[in-house]
Amino acid sequence: MSDAAWPRKVAVVGAGTMGAGIAQVFAAHGVPTVVVDASPELSEEARARAVELLARLEAAGSVESGATATAKRHLSAAATIAAAVGDADLVVEAVFERPDVKTAAYEEIEAAATPDTVIATNTSSIPIAELALALRRPGRFLGVHWFVPPLLVPCVEVIPTASTEPGVVEKVLGALTALGKTAVAVGDGPGFVANRIQFAMFREAARIVEDGVATPEQVDEIVRSSFGFRLPFFGPFTIADMAGLDVYADIFDTLERGLGEGFAAPAVLRDHVARGEYGVKAGRGFLELSQDEARELVDRRDRAYVALARLRAEGES
Ligand SMILES: NC(=O)c1ccc[n+]([C@@H]2O[C@H](COP(=O)([O-])OP(=O)(O)OC[C@H]3O[C@@H](n4cnc5c(N)ncnc54)[C@H](O)[C@@H]3O)[C@@H](O)[C@H]2O)c1
Repeated sequence: MSDAAWPRKVAVVGAGTMGAGIAQVFAAHGVPTVVVDASPELSEEARARAVELLARLEAAGSVESGATATAKRHLSAAATIAAAVGDADLVVEAVFERPDVKTAAYEEIEAAATPDTVIATNTSSIPIAELALALRRPGRFLGVHWFVPPLLVPCVEVIPTASTEPGVVEKVLGALTALGKTAVAVGDGPGFVANRIQFAMFREAARIVEDGVATPEQVDEIVRSSFGFRLPFFGPFTIADMAGLDVYADIFDTLERGLGEGFAAPAVLRDHVARGEYGVKAGRGFLELSQDEARELVDRRDRAYVALARLRAEGES
């Protein structure tokens, strides 16, 4: 059972790849969860699929033993949205990534849910404030963006709008933490944080292929074996600080000359460089590190990379 007293029941509306996966997480932690899709048959199929996929993970030793039995006991399928959401504390919306489909679902959800039921959209990219316009009670609405597969990827972005009640954000963050997730509350905007970065990377990867610089296979290999190799441990700011922000600024100059102003060095980087804050080597960059902390960071980096290289070799053997 989840540590949190909230939510006592979850309804997942739209039980495709993500909805079924999110339902798995709650149900496997003993939270009563109901899935509903576009028809009673699709809802039941999604329930069965969620249990079956969990059983496969359990058989492979990838989740705790007993998780499938717990999920099976706590997961059900509903025939309609009205039947699913009536007594839910939390409704997770994971229908198609189309504003018209989502807003039509909100109308049905709000008609049947209690006034303080929290409604969370799993949209990947649509600004939450835009979707909130369709809600009669936007105070209980927010973005809760999971990553595929929800059971295994740690991060969940939580995106309140200016109208979301602070208590709603706290409850959602508490529930996600109790599920063992890394929940990070961020500002609203197209693609939030992860997809804005991920799609910028993909756009550039595609342009590299269009320009004939590398094949998709080569791009994949280079990304996963170069800067992608660092990403399980360090985010872009720590990586930039370790590389040197002065070096980054010089590289941006070359990229801008060759690839256009979309590659101009960001002002926040220039500001650090102008102040002599070059990162780890200067003791200050985006992060502030004492000499001891900088040494510790580099040691941790080296240990992590050795361990990851072993893990990769195991995975590929
Ligand atoms: N696929 C991903 O990697 C991913 C990751 C994070 C977020 N998301 C987001 O999650 C949402 C769902 O994505 P997905 O990949 O699971 O899509 P999907 O196509 O697999 O699933 C969507 C489901 O919604 C159902 N549906 C459509 N209209 C409905 C309605 N009115 N009532 C009930 N069910 C309805 C469909 O039948 C389908 O099963 C999207 O907003 C998407 O952007 C997707």
